[in-house]
Amino acid sequence: MLHDASGRTITSLRISLTDRCNLRCRYCMPEDGVHFLEHAEILRYEEIERLIWVAAQIGVTKIRLTGGEPLLRRDVAAFIERSVHIPNIQTVALTTNGLLLPELALPLRRAGLSYLNVSLDTLHPRKFEEITRFPALQTVLQGIRAAQQAGFPALKVNVVAIRGFNDDELFEFAEFAHAENVELRFIEYMPFHGNGWNPNGFLSSDELKARLMERFELHPCKNAPSAAAKTFEISGRRGRIGFISAVSHSFCGDCNRLRLTADGFLRPCLHDNIEIDVKHPLRRGASDDELIALFQEAANRKPDVHRDFLTSTEPDSADGRAMVKIGG
Ligand code: GTP
Ligand code: 5AD
Ligand code: SF4
Repeated sequence: MLHDASGRTITSLRISLTDRCNLRCRYCMPEDGVHFLEHAEILRYEEIERLIWVAAQIGVTKIRLTGGEPLLRRDVAAFIERSVHIPNIQTVALTTNGLLLPELALPLRRAGLSYLNVSLDTLHPRKFEEITRFPALQTVLQGIRAAQQAGFPALKVNVVAIRGFNDDELFEFAEFAHAENVELRFIEYMPFHGNGWNPNGFLSSDELKARLMERFELHPCKNAPSAAAKTFEISGRRGRIGFISAVSHSFCGDCNRLRLTADGFLRPCLHDNIEIDVKHPLRRGASDDELIALFQEAANRKPDVHRDFLTSTEPDSADGRAMVKIGG
């Protein structure tokens, strides 16, 4: 089992399949874009599968595939089909912007993908284009429906809450959760290198919840301690509402995750630039035990808690990764 220095047990690995994206969300992608990785820098599928296999030997049971946009990676369904058969892996999930779901939802489900989370920050076409820089709202909505038709259970929709941008849509989002029967999660806007975060755009989960409770009765659901979201049912309605309060209430104490970047670095924490190179050892022929030692090093170096963004005066480090290169 993979335990970290504070006794947390690592059971989940978030794997970024690519740093490329077919949207350019302002809170994720720096304004002037990013320098995309060369093909040779990106882990090949067989390399990722070896790492999943090794991680599964030491207690990882869940993987979540992220990006950039993971569905841009060629033959992703075939990769998922192989991943779900790796011994000890119980759950393979994926977080997507939904643009490619109209054609890929069914092949993904048939490949054995367990869960899908879809990002969607507004229900208005003009605002969608403003935040993502592409006029593609209808395609994402079609993608969500394709995922429902393909039979994905417990579909989740991620909304990054931004004051002055989408806080006038709270009730519409609640109606959307009911109409589409999805779990809609408001994520507190987090600072990353180059994403222009400032406290004025920040909107806390507590404030969102209080505003929703002016109209709806929210009943807390039972959540796993390591879950990022606290979820609620709304009286008399389908779907759920969730809050991911990564800024106002750190949930680091229950974190069970490591991250693997598309270019082959283990990242112990979303908000810390510590990275452990696994690609070069892998390509030099590292044994399973050597790779296990690198996973253990990543766990050992996992910070207890990330800094408090609202009070900290520490600047985001200039050499930090943009969110699009971490995968969330
Ligand atoms: P499930 O619980 O399996 O549905 O996944 P998830 O909520 O962890 O995955 P998703 O990719 O949908 O992430 C939703 C948001 O939670 C993203 O903005 C992530 O960055 C954030 N998040 C996920 N894990 C962590 C974490 O360890 N720390 C912080 N601060 N945020 C996280
Ligand atoms: N703050 C909060 N969430 C973010 N995401 C991307 N950038 C940010 C940010 N700055 C979300 C995406 C996606 C998930 C993986 O991370 O909306 O749903
Ligand atoms: Fe792409 Fe997701 Fe980042 Fe938007 S948030 S630019 S969809 S990776």
